[in-house]
Amino acid sequence: MENNEIIKRTQEHVKNVLGADNSGHDWWHIYRVWKTARYIAANEQADLFIVDLAALLHDIADWKFHDGDATIGSKSAKQWLSQFAMTEDNIKHVCTIIESVSFKGAGVKSTVTTLEAQIVQDADRLDAMGAIGIGRAFAYGGYADRKMYDPAIPPVTHQSFKTYKAHKGTTINHFYEKLLLLKDRMNTQTGKRLAQSKHQVMENFLKQFLMEWEADSEAQAPSYAQAECAINL
Ligand code: ADP
Ligand code: NI
Repeated sequence: MENNEIIKRTQEHVKNVLGADNSGHDWWHIYRVWKTARYIAANEQADLFIVDLAALLHDIADWKFHDGDATIGSKSAKQWLSQFAMTEDNIKHVCTIIESVSFKGAGVKSTVTTLEAQIVQDADRLDAMGAIGIGRAFAYGGYADRKMYDPAIPPVTHQSFKTYKAHKGTTINHFYEKLLLLKDRMNTQTGKRLAQSKHQVMENFLKQFLMEWEADSEAQAPSYAQAECAINL
């Protein structure tokens, strides 16, 4: 079977599996990550077949919904790809990417090694940033029954995947615990460039959000910790 046919079939498979998801990993997330990964790969000497398959399959199963098992996605991808006449090396490469791309806490070092993994990780992270990233964060917050914001709950810099996994914070805190950190963790030059404006959109959003929290939309925005959260009569 031609590589393009494997990609087409994988696309259909992913659509079928993730089509109805509303936790942030729907087909359209995959579509955007795939498109961005191809855009980044156009400037790199990457193996496009691996980039395509890893982008398509990167969220096929999520540890967040499988008792925190971080290998569940790669197992599911391996099972799917085994039906095709692909080399063991290629299957292993795609599976390793799937295991390594996901964010596991602010203080947890990422383990991506190959160029193809770096590209897919950048593309995945870019979709958690900017206007779409803001939308996804609040969609996830609603889905997971999280508070939008609570000034009494400070953000946490997670030093292990275990504490990141178990944490139940607010959606605004998620920006400080993950989303604002992504800009400086991009792997590729193109990823770094694309992250700049998306980061700015989130900074502006948070500034406006905290200002409106104090019902003071024309005043100077307080920083996170300075919001008064008191009404002086
Ligand atoms: P990705 O698909 O980028 O690896 P995740 O699986 O970590 O991302 O999360 C999917 C989406 O849900 C992302 O946009 C992410 O920012 C958002 N999200 C994950 N955890 C939280 C949380 N605790 N609060 C708000 N949004 C979250
Ligand atoms: Ni993803």
